[in-house]
Amino acid sequence: MGTRESRGASRREVLAAVAGFAGSAICSWPALAADSDHAGSALGLQRLTAQPVRLPLQGPGKPETAMWAYNATVPGPTLRFRQGEPARFELVNRLPEPTTVHCHGIRLPNAMDGVPDVTQAAVPPGGRFVYEFTPPDAGTYWYHPHFQTSEQLGRGLAGALIVEERAPVPVDRDLVWLLADWRLTQEGAVSEDFDAPMDALHAGRYGNLVTLNGKVAPVVPVRAGERLRLRLINAASARIFVLAFPGHQPWVVALDGQPTAPRRPDAGVVVLAPAERVDLIVDMTGNPGEAFEVLDGARPSRPYAVAALAYSDDTPLRPSPPDVPVALVANPLPEPDLGNSVKASVVLSGGAMGRLPEALMGALRDHRMMERGGARKGAQFWAFNDRALMKAHDVPLVTVPRGQTLVLALENQTHWPHPIHLHGFAFRVLSRNGKPVQPAPWRDTVLLDAEETAEIAFVADNPGDWMFHCHILEHQETGMMGIVRVS
Ligand code: C2O
Ligand code: CU
Repeated sequence: MGTRESRGASRREVLAAVAGFAGSAICSWPALAADSDHAGSALGLQRLTAQPVRLPLQGPGKPETAMWAYNATVPGPTLRFRQGEPARFELVNRLPEPTTVHCHGIRLPNAMDGVPDVTQAAVPPGGRFVYEFTPPDAGTYWYHPHFQTSEQLGRGLAGALIVEERAPVPVDRDLVWLLADWRLTQEGAVSEDFDAPMDALHAGRYGNLVTLNGKVAPVVPVRAGERLRLRLINAASARIFVLAFPGHQPWVVALDGQPTAPRRPDAGVVVLAPAERVDLIVDMTGNPGEAFEVLDGARPSRPYAVAALAYSDDTPLRPSPPDVPVALVANPLPEPDLGNSVKASVVLSGGAMGRLPEALMGALRDHRMMERGGARKGAQFWAFNDRALMKAHDVPLVTVPRGQTLVLALENQTHWPHPIHLHGFAFRVLSRNGKPVQPAPWRDTVLLDAEETAEIAFVADNPGDWMFHCHILEHQETGMMGIVRVS
């Protein structure tokens, strides 16, 4: 388990030069059927029932694992909605504790954001809640609980949420690949050490089993010459993936659901921090009958397969790979007005080997005196601007008048990487370590390496209290969380 080693690879974000594209769609593309094992109806009321269930997470021949799941599947069903059309689903809580659903990355009314005590009351055991909104942006998103998130996600509650483009994208198949990380005991049960201080103080709760769509290193059948869209989603609580596709040359076409000009990933690898999504176009350039692994090389000394691409013996679907993919249509995001903006800064501090504000030192001292392993609710190991948010009704970290552009300067003063997520908005990443990022990508989660700084900007056009937190869930739950208030 890589508990201590979190920095296997440094962030290699996104920003290579734009490959010029000549959107010549050469061949005819099939009418695209949604990935059918994850289908959800785009029409009518879908229901997500959160409940305890036993599933063969480790695969056939191994003991089943008692988990919590939506509709008894891990991951939960893929919710599919259409851009600009009303979306609706009902959460039914059959868990022994309260829960909510947060639609990560979706711009929606604050009351639909799924944050207990901030945007809604938590849904009690036996309760129901209808989420309803009209997603303005197409793309790859996901959903997960926002109540004791480390535990609820660690027990299995997460799923993909896809907002389909108005016009079909020219690919042969569109696949969701949701990555998850599990910490299992020797008996194959989900380990109950959520919120262990050793994890919370370091890189978060790394597991010992990685799955893709709920399976360990699944074999994905492909055909030579096919063009796939892969929607990668990192639903792990802490693990940062560094994915390599030996034998293939993917194109990155969207980050956190937001289209980018197609480009090759930096250094040929796709970095995916917790909660991040990357959409790839991958041409199946291998030969019939061949097989290739897809690797996580976050620890270069110990790469392992997250999936295998198994080519059928069929003749190639087309004689040579199509051209550079056509860029996805940009979403209607309001452009930040940098000349007329409100500025604020957020300093990240705490963690092992880091500076903690004096007010929080008590938690650390308690931890040192504690017997090993015991979870301590309310421990505060991390802070934003020297404050650890533990109560939802705390003073906001930043307040911005509605309609203004907010430029947020983030400074990571810790020795650990943190994927920082803002609810309810997409923001542009303007700069890193003082250097402009061009073109500045839209994201909802920005991975800050140890000691890195970044500036982000967005138009605060949606009123409400929006969570802003590290998406390493054990960091979030031990203080690295705050509220951005749009008044
Ligand atoms: Cu994935 Cu607070 O969110
Ligand atoms: Cu963090």
